[in-house]
Amino acid sequence: MKQIILILLAVFLFTTAFAEELSSPNGKMKLTFNLENGVPVYQLALDGHPIIKPSKLGLELKDADDLMTGFSIENTLTTTFDETWKPVWGESSTIRNHYNELEVILKQASTQREMILRFRVFDDGLGFRYEFPEQNNLIYFVVKAEHSQFAMAGDHTAYWIPGDYDTQEYDYTTSKLSEIRALMERAITPNASQTPISETAVQTALMMKTDDGYYINLHEAALKDYSCMHLELDDKNMIFESVLTPDALGNMAYMQAPCSTPWRTIIAGKNAGDILLSNITLNLNEPCAYENADWIKPVKYVGVWWEMITGKSTWSYTNLPSVKLGETDYSKTTPNGTHAANTKHVKEYIDFAAKHGFDAVLVEGWNEGWEDWFGKSKDYVFDFVTPYPDFDVDELQAYAKSKNVKLMMHHETSGSVRNYERHLDTAYQFMVDHSYNSVKSGYVGDIIPRGEYHYGQWMVNHYLYALKKAGDYKIMVNAHEAVRPTGLCRTYPNLIGNESARGTEYEAFGGNHPDHTTILPFTRLLGGPMDYTPGIFEPDVSQYNPNNNSHVNTTIARQLALYVTMYSPLQMAADLPETYNKHLDAFQFIEDVAIDWDKTLVLEAEPGDYITYARKAKNSDNWFVGRTNDEEKRTSEISFDFLDPDVKYIATVYADAKDANYLTNPKAYEISKYVVNSKSKLKQVCAPGGGYAISIIKAENKDELKSLKKL
Ligand code: NOJ
Ligand code: CA
Repeated sequence: MKQIILILLAVFLFTTAFAEELSSPNGKMKLTFNLENGVPVYQLALDGHPIIKPSKLGLELKDADDLMTGFSIENTLTTTFDETWKPVWGESSTIRNHYNELEVILKQASTQREMILRFRVFDDGLGFRYEFPEQNNLIYFVVKAEHSQFAMAGDHTAYWIPGDYDTQEYDYTTSKLSEIRALMERAITPNASQTPISETAVQTALMMKTDDGYYINLHEAALKDYSCMHLELDDKNMIFESVLTPDALGNMAYMQAPCSTPWRTIIAGKNAGDILLSNITLNLNEPCAYENADWIKPVKYVGVWWEMITGKSTWSYTNLPSVKLGETDYSKTTPNGTHAANTKHVKEYIDFAAKHGFDAVLVEGWNEGWEDWFGKSKDYVFDFVTPYPDFDVDELQAYAKSKNVKLMMHHETSGSVRNYERHLDTAYQFMVDHSYNSVKSGYVGDIIPRGEYHYGQWMVNHYLYALKKAGDYKIMVNAHEAVRPTGLCRTYPNLIGNESARGTEYEAFGGNHPDHTTILPFTRLLGGPMDYTPGIFEPDVSQYNPNNNSHVNTTIARQLALYVTMYSPLQMAADLPETYNKHLDAFQFIEDVAIDWDKTLVLEAEPGDYITYARKAKNSDNWFVGRTNDEEKRTSEISFDFLDPDVKYIATVYADAKDANYLTNPKAYEISKYVVNSKSKLKQVCAPGGGYAISIIKAENKDELKSLKKL
């Protein structure tokens, strides 16, 4: 017995001898690091409650010894960091970056190689990364696999989409971790080119909730020159492990020291709002790379877009089966009569934008080549500078300028990425010459010519290359189908939007689950803004295209709420002007809502069920509230105690009517005006698939208050 105790004690001392502990600034988040038989192991606890159980770290290399075991600790350093910085645009005008850092310098005796593990412990979570300093025995290397583990303390509820190297355009599944395997097949949308990596791999940002009410989120930050990480679950032991995106040869990342991996992040809290309000992802990115960022401005826009997505109009000018760049003289072809990006029609959008105070009009399908854009013959590629004969760039630019509106450029690369890079300078110069200052780019289809995946290192580098080059031309970028964001917009704030998730377009391709927008802020939006393209007022898609029976799974009131709940400095009013003209009273909210904020509060939140945000407009006294609901009827109860107690405001509440329902009566909304102050409270019923939006505008004079009820 004595012997056993002695052995246990020896094992205990051996395994914990090097244990390093580091707490967050408020002492509540605690990291423990140690080497277990030469293998790096970390764990994380919040208030003593396990968030990450002991989890191993390491990398497998190709044609070289692995960086997984045989380590000893050469040195450890702890530091503290505290700064407050101002984002160019954002959910709040200042952001505090406050953490304690542990740097563990590891030495692998057998190879004489050095690897550093850097941990940053924040009050709301942890970031860590691998660093490879310059050294003689580790110069170039190829990562075969990263084995970062995230051991869960139980069978949590997860809000997940399948791991996939090429797309994130999935609906979410809510299930226990143990149920992922059985549900994987059902998580796929038919005909949507989705290819799950495995039966238990999921994408980040992965949101979870424990049975005892803790919220945990796993993601990454500052993804640069490396491939995107997925998480594979060992569902016997509830341990996630990183799965990187391979390149065309199956390699995960090509490295040259000195270099590092992206940060792996764990955000955790007792309230769902702790996850929504966390700034860990941004804080783990480098400060703004631009000395002068005056040219970067939030954009509210309309676009020649939804009419093509619904199938009412076309991107292409002709019905030719395919064309070849430079070989088709479009002026000699027969127009198909449904090409939306024509000068006359674009002017109508410009008029609408100008009348309602929008900054820009996106025009898709303006350039030659759309007959073949989906890569039917892949030997055709766009050149990004040649308009169709019915799209007069100069005339439209002059017209837009006269109305104080910008045109927004569109570059669909159709996945032909080298072709895009070859044309990039001319394409951006064309934009500058024609006064475009923002571009929506897109990467639909397989990546050619190299057969890379959308989320591999080569593509990750491409997206950043296109973004930085856009910076040289003072151009803002909104990239669709690009790798999911990881906070790079802190460094390059001209990345004003990304898609990288299932957006509103899918409402015209069969529909999104009504709880979709109650999950995205906990997942996709943690890395940066999404061009979700809200504002659909006609849920019956067949009104635009009799051959399309899709139904938009929302009420109109909820569409308004999305401008507040789906944070983005780039917001589209996606529906058609003719439809908005029928509901100008509700449209008023889209006109009024801010897109840049001083302050953000989470009033109510539960992933998969509902989210209510209140945000104060940047440099203004006005507030906006948005509430998005899942498929259940729910009552929201909020207090206006966030308002300035000395001020009276006029609140306009855009709510679901009593009988509203996303399926049967989506257009039923009610608009009410009240006088409110910081003591006001609201109890508001939200329809199934519904929500509400409120504009809270500081009252300028007493007269306007007289006729209004108090809330
Ligand atoms: C997919 C994008 O998400 C969508 O917004 C765009 O209209 C099409 N690609 C065409 O580029
Ligand atoms: Ca898309």
